[in-house]
Amino acid sequence: MILVTGGAGFIGANFVLDWLAVGDEPVVNLDKLTYAGNLHNLDSLQGDASHVFVQGDIGDRTLLDRLLAEHQPRAVINFAAESHVDRSIHGPEDFIQTNVVGTFRLLEAVRHYWQALPATQKEAFRFLHVSTDEVYGSLAPAAAAFTEEHNYEPNSPYSASKAASDHLVRAWHHTYGLPVLTTNCSNNYGPLHFPEKLIPLMIVNALAGKSLPVYGDGMQIRDWLYVKDHCSAIRRVLQAGRLGETYNVGGWNEKPNIDIVNTVCALLDELRPRSDGQSYTTQITYVTDRPGHDRRYAIDARKLERELGWKPAETFETGIRKTVQWYLDHPEWVAQVQSGAYREWVQKQYEGAAA
Ligand code: NAD
Ligand code: DAU
Repeated sequence: MILVTGGAGFIGANFVLDWLAVGDEPVVNLDKLTYAGNLHNLDSLQGDASHVFVQGDIGDRTLLDRLLAEHQPRAVINFAAESHVDRSIHGPEDFIQTNVVGTFRLLEAVRHYWQALPATQKEAFRFLHVSTDEVYGSLAPAAAAFTEEHNYEPNSPYSASKAASDHLVRAWHHTYGLPVLTTNCSNNYGPLHFPEKLIPLMIVNALAGKSLPVYGDGMQIRDWLYVKDHCSAIRRVLQAGRLGETYNVGGWNEKPNIDIVNTVCALLDELRPRSDGQSYTTQITYVTDRPGHDRRYAIDARKLERELGWKPAETFETGIRKTVQWYLDHPEWVAQVQSGAYREWVQKQYEGAAA
């Protein structure tokens, strides 16, 4: 049995679905179901006894103690977080509460549970913390990609809160000996991605005939990894990662945002051409830049490849085609996530934002 937190969100849900597809070890899935959590992501697991869903907060110590005692997991994988940089700029409080205080409470609950385990179970236990490349800050154009030795230089409330959580995880290993592993991954994309983030926002806006808002000059660089490759990396680190180590996860797919948007448009032009025969690129609009916008991220994932033999299965070309096709095939999922709260967010973030 493993305990996954945040398993109704984008990466967590993909992880739970893949975990149960490749093996038979049961999962307890603890998720608060914030705006980003969606039980429909897990619809295919209805009636599956190997998936136990619990709605709750990683900051709720009483609940955590009860779940750990009841299910006796051999590992905890922490995906739960507030994850959207733009939201962290509008309102950082939730990011501090979940990403910092929540991770602290989870670590304390897990530490007490782990310390009381019998010796063999204690030795086998793992706490895997899912983190981000954003903790390393922004790279100059010609600088080498982030290795695990790069200094932490977070620039947004989101990345600062994730950096703080990474430090707590490190300290719980160093001080208490908690058997931790940390992964720092680049930008994910794929099925179930909430359409507040670049790629799914561009797909759903394009199909709805809306503008495609590109921040600033569109030349910010992100390093893209198909979500299922991130999930396979986490499984591999959980299986064989060295205790207390951090592993960077990435696919060597650095691309400027405008190239991503043009690629999405080209795929939609091919797969779902506009009725007026024009390209979706005509919907691109340059808007006011994100405050403090990091210019470039790039991940050096050679440690994970060298030590654990992990490699991504998808190239950007295969992954982005699958992703666009998934959104075309799941209009009901897209309609369902575009709730009143989603519309309020879009209005707050983009209204009057044309550059
Ligand atoms: P997401 O926003 O899609 O999902 C987060 C999930 O956590 C949601 O289901 C939400 O309900 C849940 N949650 C939030 N606060 C909670 C709390 N207090 N208690 C319990 N559950 C709570 O995020 P995501 O994109 O799936 O990211 C998952 C993790 O991976 C995060 O830790 C994020 O920092 C990290 N990460 C994301 C990316 C990316 O590109 N999306 C890349 C690297 C790392
Ligand atoms: O690098 C990993 C991180 O990737 C994760 O830790 C975060 O949880 C995840 O949200 C993501 O952060 P980004 O800020 O890079 O992702 P986002 O999809 O919000 O933006 C990607 C790039 O696209 C970024 O440079 C901002 C730009 N952008 C984004 C949106 C939503 C636009 O130009 N227009 C938009 O409307």
